[in-house]
Amino acid sequence: MKILVTGGSGLVGRYVVRELARDHDVTVIDLRNPFEGYSRFTRANILSLSSLTKAVDDFDAVVHLAGIAHPLNDPPERVFQVNTVGTFNVLEAAALAGVRRFVFMSSESVLGFAFAKTRMWPEYIPLDEEHPLRPQDAYGLSKVSGELLCASYARTYGMQTISLRPPWIWVPEDKEIATYRTLISEYEKWHKNLWGWIHVLDVVEAIKKAIDVPAFGTHEAFFISAKEQWTKIPTKELLKQFYPEVKVPADALTGRESLFNTSKAASLLGFQPTRSVHDIVA
Ligand SMILES: NC(=O)c1ccc[n+]([C@@H]2O[C@H](COP(=O)([O-])OP(=O)(O)OC[C@H]3O[C@@H](n4cnc5c(N)ncnc54)[C@H](O)[C@@H]3O)[C@@H](O)[C@H]2O)c1
Repeated sequence: MKILVTGGSGLVGRYVVRELARDHDVTVIDLRNPFEGYSRFTRANILSLSSLTKAVDDFDAVVHLAGIAHPLNDPPERVFQVNTVGTFNVLEAAALAGVRRFVFMSSESVLGFAFAKTRMWPEYIPLDEEHPLRPQDAYGLSKVSGELLCASYARTYGMQTISLRPPWIWVPEDKEIATYRTLISEYEKWHKNLWGWIHVLDVVEAIKKAIDVPAFGTHEAFFISAKEQWTKIPTKELLKQFYPEVKVPADALTGRESLFNTSKAASLLGFQPTRSVHDIVA
C-alpha cells in the first residue's frame, strides 16, 4: 500500500513510519527533517493547502499526525489554527487526490478533563464513545473540530475516516522514561490526566487496524488505551480520592483497570492493547 504519514518526523510519527514501512511504501510530510536514514520525505506546512495538493497524490491511505500535541507551550490560537486548519487542509488535499482511507490522530482530550480550567468529573466510568465531549482548551477543541471535519469528509466524499483517541502515548526512550517514573511517584498531581496511557507500539497496531479494516461507511471515533492505568493504586481508590462524585458499581473495578473503555475498538477494529507499564518502566 502507498501510505502518507503527516507528522512522521515527530515523537509518535517516527515509530509509526518505521513500523508501517516494513510492509508498505510510506511517505512522510513534516516541517522537520525525518529521523536519520529515512528518505521518502516532503517538507510541507499543513497550513498551506497548495503545498499539500502538490504533495498528496494517489495514496491508498493518509495517517494524519501532524500538529501541536498539547496546549501548554503555544498560544491557544496557534494550537487551534495548526490543528484545525491543518486537518482541514490535509483532508481537502486527500479528497482532491481521491484518497479512500484517512486515519486521524485525535486524543482523549476531546473529553476535556486533561486541560480543564473548571473542575469536572466523569459522568460514568469507564469512559466510552457515548460520553459527552466537553473540552475547555484549544487543544481539546481542535481535536473535537478535527473529528467533525473527518465526519464531514466521510459524508461528502465517501472517504472512510477514522479518529483514534489515545491518552498519553508512552515511548520506550530514556528521557521519557525518566518523566514516567516521576509521574508514577507523583500520581496525585495527574488526576486530570485520569492516569491514562498507551504504549506507542499499541498505537501503531491500532493505526494498522484502522488502515486495514473494511469500510464502515461513516466516520467512526475510537478510544484506544492500555488495559491498566499507570499508578500502583487500585482504580477504585483513585476515584474515591479524586473523583468522589463518580458512582462506581459495587462489582466494578477490582484492580488497576484503565478508566477508558476500548471495547468499541476491540469489536469494530479488532484492536487489543498488549503492552503494560512494565514494558516501558521496568
Ligand atoms: N504524544 C502524545 O501523548 C499524544 C497523545 C494523544 C494524541 N497525540 C496526537 O498525536 C499526534 C503526534 O503527536 P506527537 O507526540 O508525535 O507530537 P510531535 O510534536 O512530536 O510531532 C508532531 C509533528 O507534527 C509536525 N508539525 C507540526 N506543525 C506542523 C505543520 N504546520 N506542518 C507540518 N508538520 C507540522 C512537527 O514538526 C512534528 O514532527 C498529534 O496529533 C497529537 O495531538 C499525541
